[in-house]
Amino acid sequence: MIEEPVFMRILGIETSCDETAIAVMEASGPKMRPRIKILSNAVLSQVSLHRKFGGVVPHLAKREHEKNLVAVLFMALKEAGFLRAGKNNFTDLQLGVIHGIFEREPELLEKFLKAIPKVLPPKIDAIAVTAGPGLEPALWAGVNFARALSYIWKKPLIPVNHLEGHIYTVLLGGKPLMKRRFHALLMKLPALILIVSGGHTELVLMRKFGKYEIIGETRDDAAGEAFDKVAKMLKLGYPGGPIISKLAERVKQDRKINVKLPRPMINSNDFDFSFSGLKTAVLYLLKDLEKKYAIAELRTPVSYEFQNAVCDVLVAKTIRAARKYKTKSVIIGGGVAANKLLRERLAKIIKQEAPKTALYLPSTRFTGDNALMIALAAYFGLKKQVPWQNIRAQANLRLSE
Ligand code: KG4
Ligand code: ZN
Repeated sequence: MIEEPVFMRILGIETSCDETAIAVMEASGPKMRPRIKILSNAVLSQVSLHRKFGGVVPHLAKREHEKNLVAVLFMALKEAGFLRAGKNNFTDLQLGVIHGIFEREPELLEKFLKAIPKVLPPKIDAIAVTAGPGLEPALWAGVNFARALSYIWKKPLIPVNHLEGHIYTVLLGGKPLMKRRFHALLMKLPALILIVSGGHTELVLMRKFGKYEIIGETRDDAAGEAFDKVAKMLKLGYPGGPIISKLAERVKQDRKINVKLPRPMINSNDFDFSFSGLKTAVLYLLKDLEKKYAIAELRTPVSYEFQNAVCDVLVAKTIRAARKYKTKSVIIGGGVAANKLLRERLAKIIKQEAPKTALYLPSTRFTGDNALMIALAAYFGLKKQVPWQNIRAQANLRLSE
């Protein structure tokens, strides 16, 4: 079968949490096996702002997105070679519509009106934006920005589920063939996807591109959230995942403090998770051990055991699900997919127990939130465009069939 060739450039916008991100990607060649070129991938992290609160503060995140979206857009367009100065003065009708769109984002309105009339519409075919899930005020900043750009530049607008973005990140593969150019490999379906991020822990079955069946999910905290909370208890700072994982690597075989934590729901007859109990177990463990040891002595052994506990549960449920559904591939995505131990453990168990199953690990350059993944998901998830008037931010958006 000869696939119809495509040439498509998509501008992605992502503001679901604490990264203001805009990217431009180009897909060319056979439709479902295109060459993907990253024209730009601008990410402005707010981590240093939220760090002092030990987590993301939604209304602060929204304000930062408002403040920075235009600058990040210009960065992304410039890098892609699409920033062209020109006069694009708005009519009274356009001004009225734009004021309506940014009713709740006055700062973004001001920045938009100042900057956008001075540039010509870029050479893109569509705008993709994260509609959810995420922090509602933060999502609205990106969604309204995308709506306004779609209206002024007359470009189709595609709403994307943030988690789909994490899934399709694996298509970029681990090793770039050429600098900033990738051949997207095609995932083998059905695929089992483990999504592990700061807000989500889900096992998802994908039988067809763009169709998802959630077969299990966390009943309370997400895996990344547990990493962040435990890091807070150990006074390690935010975000906790990377710090805990680094510390855990330093553990010594002859350590004097040996700790043991539970593996919640590891043997339950379903594919659900629960990490809140594990977090509480760490809290009690620390209360007890702090009578005898300084927190500095406890950090490494607790990080080690905690990371092992989380990985044990994630790996056990993932392999069980892959075998039950006889999936041809296993994919991981989301911030926690950067975790070295999780990656190693999954690779090992798949090799041992399901050697015919392909494991797709995303490049750690793209596991954190970015907008390239949103553009990719719009493309590969075969998402439909929606009139800009009809797009809303949906904090609890779920993957669907
Ligand atoms: O996907 P993401 O960037 O944002 C959300 O959509 O939530 O995920 C962020 C989460 C944070 O909880 C962070 O602690 C965690 O990913 N994380 C890690 C690692 N790197 C980031 N967790 C464990 N090990 C890591 N190496
Ligand atoms: Zn994410």
